Amino acid sequence: MDSKKPGYMTAWMMIFGHNWLTLLGGVIGGFSTVLMFGLGIMSLTESASSPYLGVVAYMVLPNFLVLGLGFVIIGILWARRRRHKGQPDSQLVIDFNSPNTRRAALTCFIITAFTLFVMAIVTYEGAVYVDSVPFCGKVCHTVMEPEYTAYSLSPHLRVKCVECHVGPGMQGFVESKLAGLKQVAAVALNTCPRPIESPVTTLRPARDTCEHCHWPEKFTGDRLKVITKFQDDETNSPLKTVLLLHIGGGGTGQKGIHSWHISPKHQTYYTPADRKRQSIARVRVVNNDGTEFTFKTPEDKFTPEQLKDAKERRMDCIDCHNRPSHIFKLPATEMDLSMAAGRINPKIPYIKKLGVETLTDAKGGEHDLQQISDKVSAFYNEKYPDFLKENKAMVDSAIAEIQAIYKRNVFPKMNLTWGVHPNNLGHELFPGCFRCHDDSMQSSDGKSVGQDCTICHTVLAWDEADPEILQKLGQQ
Ligand code: HEC
Ligand code: HEC
Ligand code: HEC
Ligand code: HEC
Ligand code: HEC
Repeated sequence: MDSKKPGYMTAWMMIFGHNWLTLLGGVIGGFSTVLMFGLGIMSLTESASSPYLGVVAYMVLPNFLVLGLGFVIIGILWARRRRHKGQPDSQLVIDFNSPNTRRAALTCFIITAFTLFVMAIVTYEGAVYVDSVPFCGKVCHTVMEPEYTAYSLSPHLRVKCVECHVGPGMQGFVESKLAGLKQVAAVALNTCPRPIESPVTTLRPARDTCEHCHWPEKFTGDRLKVITKFQDDETNSPLKTVLLLHIGGGGTGQKGIHSWHISPKHQTYYTPADRKRQSIARVRVVNNDGTEFTFKTPEDKFTPEQLKDAKERRMDCIDCHNRPSHIFKLPATEMDLSMAAGRINPKIPYIKKLGVETLTDAKGGEHDLQQISDKVSAFYNEKYPDFLKENKAMVDSAIAEIQAIYKRNVFPKMNLTWGVHPNNLGHELFPGCFRCHDDSMQSSDGKSVGQDCTICHTVLAWDEADPEILQKLGQQ
């Protein structure tokens, strides 16, 4: 009797069907489980947060585990068939009376339980991971660099990409993952458009995204905005514009931007005449009582050819706030902001003019950064050698900031340069509000969409050196 009892290893072989396929599957599965477990633990620590760790742990290794398990199962089935056909290892009978068999079965059970445990964690962590900012923003580094860079400087840095791009719910998750697969393929095959196209036609309506955090009824009142601009003269003299923006609140009955535009009492639909939605051919307002009215541009403004593919769209937050998170600016705006914030010292003669000129010339060429530095240095060497000698550090840090401005707005690898993504919030640099609030757009009874300067804001000061209103408010 005793001599028939299998040794520990033989017992193993018996359970696993005694064939190389199962063995191979076991090794592959075992290796990937242990690796996943290890990487999973590593990715929990902040210091090891390379985005690729997650790709390996949650997207590559699980496939190997499934492959390994597949081999194991096929191997077992294969061995059983051989046994039925009476082939050599058919004598081996699993006998749970043998302690070695029991021990092997217990080990087998523990390994299976551990594998299932790791798989459960990996499935959960994987689902969390594909929704994470590192996955969306850093895995396809070059492609997402512009959006990720701008996002990192935006008020929404703490908001995950998926909260605006995907929205909640299973449908959003599945749709976005399908779209994501297409994008990964496009990146791998290098067929993705550069720059990535905007507007994003697959974006969920703002009701499902923005309004989860920004409750439309909540905005009320006015917002004071002071805009400082520096002139092109030697002293970069600053001028201030002071606006009282009538933001207003949805549904409060107050007058204002949000009061009208996100009021629950009517919906606005518009028909853009171009892909970037920068020219608008028709606006339709539908009131809750069923009445509606339409504003149109003059018949001949757009050719039928231009309007052939035009699709009407329901206006929401994103039609004004189209850059809430990826805010690319223009050279003059960036220079003004950096100078107002003191990152570039306004005492440097002509720095505003020079900065705007060098930035405007740097459109994405190979040596742009070097050229910025060369041009600025050359200017002060030639025109202000004494100033430069005394203020070398001041000029150097201005050069560094001008280069930083370039790096956060121009991304040569993605063909993204100044002004590619217009900002619709305003009307100074891009058409923005004036796409509709333009006297040329009229209803059949001759009414136009208002362009009265006071409906959106009160201009309290306009390009003034020392606005009286700011003194009154006690601001400098
Ligand atoms: C606060 C909301 C918000 C967050 C957070 C956000 N986005 Fe966006 N994103 C938008 C909007 C709005 C657009 C432009 C949509 C439009 O005009 O149709 C956009 C556009 C894009 C585009 C298209 C190109 C472009 O610049 O318009 C890409 C790519 C993109 N986002 C990637 C990301 C990535 C990656 C993250 C996370 C690192 C992220 N977004 C986080 C709101 C957001
Ligand atoms: C997950 C929550 C969340 C979502 C979703 C979200 N936001 Fe925000 N939003 C915030 C937070 C937090 C701030 C920052 C508030 C602050 O800095 O005072 C903010 C700030 C803003 C601001 C003010 C920025 C400024 O310069 O003061 C605007 C405008 C804005 N969001 C628009 C949007 C739009 C449009 C969307 C949808 C595309 C959106 N948000 C989606 C949380 C969110
Ligand atoms: C008709 C255009 C328009 C629409 C539509 C619109 N907004 Fe605004 N919103 C503005 C303007 C203009 C401002 C003021 C911008 C500034 O302060 O520079 C503003 C300001 C804000 C602010 C900052 C508020 C504050 O008190 O500082 C938030 C947050 C915001 N909007 C979110 C939203 C959300 C969410 C939606 C959709 C439900 C929305 N907006 C729809 C034009 C719009
Ligand atoms: C797609 C077209 C469109 C765009 C773009 C648009 N609006 Fe409007 N807006 C309208 C229409 C239509 C009305 C209703 C006009 C009327 O009834 O006279 C309106 C009304 C308003 C009103 C209320 C006017 C009143 O008399 O009370 C304000 C304020 C306003 N818009 C602000 C803005 C701001 C700010 C922007 C840019 C950030 C903007 N709108 C962009 C179409 C638009
Ligand atoms: C439909 C709404 C609307 C109307 C009408 C409107 N504006 Fe504006 N205006 C805005 C918004 C929104 C901004 C941008 C505020 C910001 O910077 O966030 C702005 C900004 C400005 C600025 C500051 C621009 C800058 O960056 O220096 C000036 C000046 C200005 N408007 C003047 C006017 C004058 C003059 C009129 C009348 C012809 C007018 N606006 C009509 C919505 C409007």
